[in-house]
Amino acid sequence: MKTGIFYGSTTGNTESAAQMLCAAISGSHATPIGDAEKADLEACDLLILGASTWGLGDLQDDWADSLTLLSSADLKGKTVALFGLGDQETYSGTFVDGIKELHDAALEAGATIVGKCSGDGYEFQDSAAFIDGRFLGLPLDEENQADLTEERIRIWVDQVLQEAK
Ligand SMILES: Cc1cc2nc3c(=O)[nH]c(=O)nc-3n(C[C@H](O)[C@H](O)[C@H](O)COP(=O)(O)O)c2cc1C
Repeated sequence: MKTGIFYGSTTGNTESAAQMLCAAISGSHATPIGDAEKADLEACDLLILGASTWGLGDLQDDWADSLTLLSSADLKGKTVALFGLGDQETYSGTFVDGIKELHDAALEAGATIVGKCSGDGYEFQDSAAFIDGRFLGLPLDEENQADLTEERIRIWVDQVLQEAK
Protein backbone atom coordinates (compact mmCIF):
# COMPACT_ATOMS: atom_id res chain seq x y z
CA MET A 1 0.00 0.00 0.00
CA LYS A 2 1.66 3.22 -1.13
CA THR A 3 1.47 5.68 1.76
CA GLY A 4 2.06 9.43 1.50
CA ILE A 5 2.15 11.87 4.39
CA PHE A 6 1.36 15.44 3.38
CA TYR A 7 1.62 18.23 5.94
CA GLY A 8 1.49 21.96 6.45
CA SER A 9 3.53 23.37 9.32
CA THR A 10 4.33 26.95 10.30
CA THR A 11 6.67 26.52 13.29
CA GLY A 12 7.73 22.92 12.74
CA ASN A 13 5.45 20.96 15.09
CA THR A 14 3.35 19.32 12.39
CA GLU A 15 6.50 18.64 10.43
CA SER A 16 8.02 16.80 13.41
CA ALA A 17 4.86 14.73 13.82
CA ALA A 18 4.91 13.96 10.10
CA GLN A 19 8.48 12.72 10.43
CA MET A 20 7.53 10.50 13.38
CA LEU A 21 4.67 9.05 11.33
CA CYS A 22 7.02 8.51 8.42
CA ALA A 23 9.45 6.62 10.66
CA ALA A 24 6.59 4.46 11.97
CA ILE A 25 5.24 3.46 8.55
CA SER A 26 7.79 1.66 6.43
CA GLY A 27 8.02 2.82 2.84
CA SER A 28 6.08 6.04 3.48
CA HIS A 29 7.20 9.50 2.41
CA ALA A 30 6.50 12.87 4.03
CA THR A 31 6.04 15.91 1.80
CA PRO A 32 5.19 19.53 2.64
CA ILE A 33 1.82 20.18 1.00
CA GLY A 34 3.25 23.31 -0.60
CA ASP A 35 5.57 21.07 -2.65
CA ALA A 36 2.89 18.56 -3.69
CA GLU A 37 1.00 18.30 -6.94
CA LYS A 38 -2.35 16.68 -7.49
CA ALA A 39 -0.70 13.66 -9.11
CA ASP A 40 1.36 13.12 -5.92
CA LEU A 41 -1.85 12.83 -3.90
CA GLU A 42 -3.54 10.60 -6.46
CA ALA A 43 -0.53 8.26 -6.60
CA CYS A 44 -1.08 7.10 -2.99
CA ASP A 45 -3.42 4.40 -1.68
CA LEU A 46 -3.27 5.76 1.87
CA LEU A 47 -2.87 9.49 2.43
CA ILE A 48 -2.08 10.83 5.88
CA LEU A 49 -2.80 14.54 5.98
CA GLY A 50 -1.66 16.81 8.80
CA ALA A 51 -2.21 20.47 9.57
CA SER A 52 -1.95 22.85 12.47
CA THR A 53 -4.63 25.39 13.35
CA TRP A 54 -3.91 29.14 13.49
CA GLY A 55 -5.78 32.38 14.13
CA LEU A 56 -9.01 31.30 15.75
CA GLY A 57 -9.76 28.01 14.06
CA ASP A 58 -8.00 28.76 10.78
CA LEU A 59 -6.29 26.10 8.72
CA GLN A 60 -2.49 26.44 8.48
CA ASP A 61 -1.49 28.75 5.60
CA ASP A 62 0.14 26.25 3.20
CA TRP A 63 -2.87 23.99 3.49
CA ALA A 64 -5.28 26.88 3.06
CA ASP A 65 -3.55 27.59 -0.26
CA SER A 66 -3.71 23.91 -1.27
CA LEU A 67 -7.18 22.96 -0.11
CA THR A 68 -8.66 23.03 -3.61
CA LEU A 69 -5.76 20.85 -4.79
CA LEU A 70 -7.03 18.27 -2.31
CA SER A 71 -10.76 18.68 -2.87
CA SER A 72 -10.36 18.52 -6.67
CA ALA A 73 -8.14 15.41 -6.60
CA ASP A 74 -9.65 12.07 -7.57
CA LEU A 75 -9.34 10.05 -4.38
CA LYS A 76 -12.13 7.55 -5.02
CA GLY A 77 -11.09 4.18 -3.66
CA LYS A 78 -8.33 5.80 -1.59
CA THR A 79 -8.05 6.00 2.17
CA VAL A 80 -7.32 9.19 4.09
CA ALA A 81 -6.33 9.60 7.74
CA LEU A 82 -5.98 13.01 9.37
CA PHE A 83 -3.91 14.49 12.18
CA GLY A 84 -3.82 18.00 13.55
CA LEU A 85 -1.62 20.06 15.83
CA GLY A 86 -3.24 22.47 18.25
CA ASP A 87 -3.26 23.97 21.72
CA GLN A 88 -6.21 22.79 23.82
CA GLU A 89 -5.53 25.25 26.65
CA THR A 90 -5.01 28.61 24.95
CA TYR A 91 -7.31 27.85 22.00
CA SER A 92 -9.80 25.69 23.85
CA GLY A 93 -12.77 26.77 21.74
CA THR A 94 -11.16 26.09 18.35
CA PHE A 95 -8.98 23.11 19.22
CA VAL A 96 -7.55 21.47 16.06
CA ASP A 97 -10.37 22.95 13.93
CA GLY A 98 -8.09 22.58 10.89
CA ILE A 99 -8.70 18.83 10.89
CA LYS A 100 -12.33 19.49 9.93
CA GLU A 101 -11.33 21.46 6.83
CA LEU A 102 -8.99 18.71 5.68
CA HIS A 103 -11.72 16.16 6.37
CA ASP A 104 -14.32 17.98 4.29
CA ALA A 105 -11.94 18.46 1.37
CA ALA A 106 -10.87 14.79 1.45
CA LEU A 107 -14.52 13.70 1.49
CA GLU A 108 -15.20 15.97 -1.48
CA ALA A 109 -12.33 14.23 -3.28
CA GLY A 110 -14.13 10.93 -2.75
CA ALA A 111 -11.83 9.40 -0.14
CA THR A 112 -12.78 7.07 2.69
CA ILE A 113 -11.76 8.52 6.05
CA VAL A 114 -10.20 6.36 8.75
CA GLY A 115 -8.39 7.07 12.02
CA LYS A 116 -11.09 8.79 14.06
CA CYS A 117 -10.19 9.19 17.74
CA SER A 118 -11.78 9.32 21.16
CA GLY A 119 -11.67 12.62 23.06
CA ASP A 120 -10.38 10.88 26.19
CA GLY A 121 -7.30 12.56 27.58
CA TYR A 122 -7.99 15.96 26.03
CA GLU A 123 -9.51 18.96 27.83
CA PHE A 124 -11.07 21.47 25.48
CA GLN A 125 -14.27 23.49 25.19
CA ASP A 126 -15.06 23.06 21.55
CA SER A 127 -13.63 21.76 18.30
CA ALA A 128 -15.08 21.76 14.80
CA ALA A 129 -13.24 18.45 14.41
CA PHE A 130 -15.10 16.76 17.31
CA ILE A 131 -18.29 15.26 15.91
CA ASP A 132 -20.59 12.64 17.45
CA GLY A 133 -18.18 12.15 20.33
CA ARG A 134 -15.08 11.56 18.24
CA PHE A 135 -12.32 13.55 16.63
CA LEU A 136 -12.19 13.22 12.85
CA GLY A 137 -8.46 12.53 13.17
CA LEU A 138 -5.63 12.46 15.69
CA PRO A 139 -5.14 15.66 17.74
CA LEU A 140 -1.60 16.36 18.97
CA ASP A 141 -0.74 19.13 21.41
CA GLU A 142 2.93 20.04 21.69
CA GLU A 143 2.20 23.00 24.01
CA ASN A 144 0.49 21.01 26.76
CA GLN A 145 0.93 17.28 26.14
CA ALA A 146 4.17 16.86 24.22
CA ASP A 147 5.04 13.85 26.37
CA LEU A 148 2.02 11.98 24.96
CA THR A 149 2.78 12.56 21.27
CA GLU A 150 5.01 9.56 20.64
CA GLU A 151 2.60 7.09 22.26
CA ARG A 152 -0.44 8.66 20.58
CA ILE A 153 1.22 8.32 17.20
CA ARG A 154 2.23 4.71 17.86
CA ILE A 155 -1.32 3.67 18.80
CA TRP A 156 -2.92 5.67 16.00
CA VAL A 157 -0.64 4.24 13.30
CA ASP A 158 -1.70 0.73 14.33
CA GLN A 159 -5.36 1.78 14.14
CA VAL A 160 -4.99 3.47 10.77
CA LEU A 161 -3.11 0.59 9.16
CA GLN A 162 -5.71 -1.84 10.49
CA GLU A 163 -8.65 0.26 9.21
CA ALA A 164 -6.99 0.87 5.85
CA LYS A 165 -6.66 -2.84 5.05
C1 LIG B 1 -1.41 32.96 17.01
C2 LIG B 1 -1.73 31.50 17.22
C3 LIG B 1 -3.01 31.04 16.96
C4 LIG B 1 -3.35 29.69 17.19
N1 LIG B 1 -4.64 29.26 17.00
C5 LIG B 1 -4.97 27.99 17.32
C6 LIG B 1 -6.33 27.53 17.24
O1 LIG B 1 -7.25 28.27 16.87
N2 LIG B 1 -6.61 26.24 17.58
C7 LIG B 1 -5.62 25.38 18.02
O2 LIG B 1 -5.93 24.23 18.34
N3 LIG B 1 -4.32 25.78 18.09
C8 LIG B 1 -3.98 27.05 17.78
N4 LIG B 1 -2.67 27.46 17.86
C9 LIG B 1 -1.64 26.49 18.29
C10 LIG B 1 -0.86 25.90 17.11
O3 LIG B 1 -1.71 25.18 16.25
C11 LIG B 1 0.22 24.97 17.67
O4 LIG B 1 1.23 25.75 18.22
C12 LIG B 1 0.81 24.03 16.66
O5 LIG B 1 1.63 23.09 17.32
C13 LIG B 1 1.61 24.71 15.57
O6 LIG B 1 2.02 23.73 14.64
P1 LIG B 1 3.00 24.07 13.41
O7 LIG B 1 4.31 24.49 14.03
O8 LIG B 1 3.13 22.80 12.68
O9 LIG B 1 2.37 25.14 12.60
C14 LIG B 1 -2.34 28.80 17.65
C15 LIG B 1 -1.04 29.28 17.89
C16 LIG B 1 -0.74 30.61 17.69
C17 LIG B 1 0.66 31.08 18.01
